[in-house]
Amino acid sequence: MSRLVITIAMAFGIFMNAAAQAADSRQAFDFYCAQCHGVKGDGRGVNVTKDFATDPRDFTDARNMENRSDEDIRRAIMDGGPAISKSAWMPPWGATLSIEEIDGLVAYIREMCNCSSRREGRVLKWLPSSGYD
Ligand code: HEC
Repeated sequence: MSRLVITIAMAFGIFMNAAAQAADSRQAFDFYCAQCHGVKGDGRGVNVTKDFATDPRDFTDARNMENRSDEDIRRAIMDGGPAISKSAWMPPWGATLSIEEIDGLVAYIREMCNCSSRREGRVLKWLPSSGYD
């Protein structure tokens, strides 16, 4: 009996942890990223004016985002745009955020694009421009 109670308590704890983590990631995104990438991740943050040299990535564009591996996304967040041959207008966050926070942001970005990486899962998808990848 007591073992069952402990198991349930542990399962609930893990569940609550995951829920808290997801909420934290949204909060971190809203705080650190949304001014450029937009609250919805559509790349239309309040910072983005005509003078902005490069458009922040639209994370809701699944066709684009599924071409990135989670590792690409992680590296872009950690070391900034130039780490993945992109614009330095994407700042590095490795000194500000922990690995756990960065991984949470990767997961949150995957939620916003509602996609996974074609490169990791190798799920074949039809692309209108180039056929099956
Ligand atoms: C000062 C504006 C700015 C802020 C703040 C910012 N970004 Fe960016 N980000 C950009 C720009 C601009 C690009 C596009 C770079 C390019 O395409 O050359 C970009 C690109 C990215 C990419 C690469 C997408 C791809 O094309 O593969 C990721 C991932 C990313 N940002 C995540 C984040 C996260 C997470 C945060 C918050 C921790 C954040 N960004 C904060 C401007 C910003």
